[in-house]
Amino acid sequence: MENNHNLTSDHVLNDQEQSLEFTLRPKYLAHYLGQEKIKTELTIYIEAAKKREEALDHVLLYGPPGLGKTTMAMVIANEMNADIRTTSGPAIEKPGDLVALLNDLEPGGILFIDEIHRMPRIAEEMLYSAMEDYYVDIIIGQGETAHPVHFPLPPFTLIGATTRAGSLSAPLRDRFGILAHMEYYKQEELEAIVLRSSQVLNTAIKADGAKEIAKRSRGTPRIANRLLKRVRDYADVKNDGVVTQETASLALDLLRVDSHGLDSVDQKFLHTLIHLYGGGPVGLNTLAANIGEEVDTIEDMVEPYLLQEGFIQRTARGRMASEKAYEHLQLMHLWRE
Ligand SMILES: Nc1ncnc2c1ncn2[C@@H]1O[C@H](COP(=O)(O)OP(=O)(O)OP(=O)(O)O)[C@@H](O)[C@H]1O
Ligand SMILES: [Mg+2]
Repeated sequence: MENNHNLTSDHVLNDQEQSLEFTLRPKYLAHYLGQEKIKTELTIYIEAAKKREEALDHVLLYGPPGLGKTTMAMVIANEMNADIRTTSGPAIEKPGDLVALLNDLEPGGILFIDEIHRMPRIAEEMLYSAMEDYYVDIIIGQGETAHPVHFPLPPFTLIGATTRAGSLSAPLRDRFGILAHMEYYKQEELEAIVLRSSQVLNTAIKADGAKEIAKRSRGTPRIANRLLKRVRDYADVKNDGVVTQETASLALDLLRVDSHGLDSVDQKFLHTLIHLYGGGPVGLNTLAANIGEEVDTIEDMVEPYLLQEGFIQRTARGRMASEKAYEHLQLMHLWRE
């Protein structure tokens, strides 16, 4: 288990939840559970970069929310012993914001841009030369006096995170040397994460309790941690604080997380698809409107998991519910042959 004692000393964290979140985050690759393929690759690239005393190549982390992209960015910084600055696509309003951030980096430092697909176009274009050759050309002054200035930058690593690699322009995507596709976690991995988090939270938990939470976490560590906290509350009140399979199961039923981890939005998606559209095919916009959710939310958060678990299929004519969805919702009497 990792050493948690001086985690907060160099960070001023007043909000309790935030500091909890901080301690729940693994700091080194060795404590980062799951994503084995990415870890294996990164271990090599990090070691090589350190050996050559160079900045690590730029890394793009992509995948659904809550799978540990931000956590991985921090882990990379720790492993590289590098300084990390954090921003997000929408926070960069003008090219000058980006130049300021880049200029502030130490040689070998890391700039982490979350939601990089939401960065303004003109800042994005500025990144091309920054990433490739460590310089930016900026225009100083206005009108008559405007003139271009060539601005060299220290060697640095850009880590971008996005829920949708598809919305990134090809020139930007191509400039990342390391593409890391984050995948939903396996149940055993989530079990290990729940057990680790229980230790951090000082919560007594039985193996079958961790298993039940893992099973219902939608393949997502953030959800696993959140459910653990709610189950812990329930166990504190009803079961002397010990998380067992039974308390987990009762608490999660109360939260309306079903036996497969589908939450109320997932369930609404499937019910709408089946009851209103005979199981589809139906277009995404129509479905989203009926559920009362943004199309983006459905595409980023709801569909990827339902697809991966085989509850829906994507066809040229729209989304379709699979037999597994009918079975799971006990609606087999409505299944079309
Ligand atoms: N591999 C892991 N091992 C242990 N805990 C993890 C792991 N990955 C993520 N977590 C935990 O899951 C939570 C969410 O992780 P994180 O914030 O890194 O996700 P994210 O992919 O950046 O999400 P978003 O796309 O919403 O920004 C954190 O509390 C973190 O502690
Ligand atoms: Mg994040």
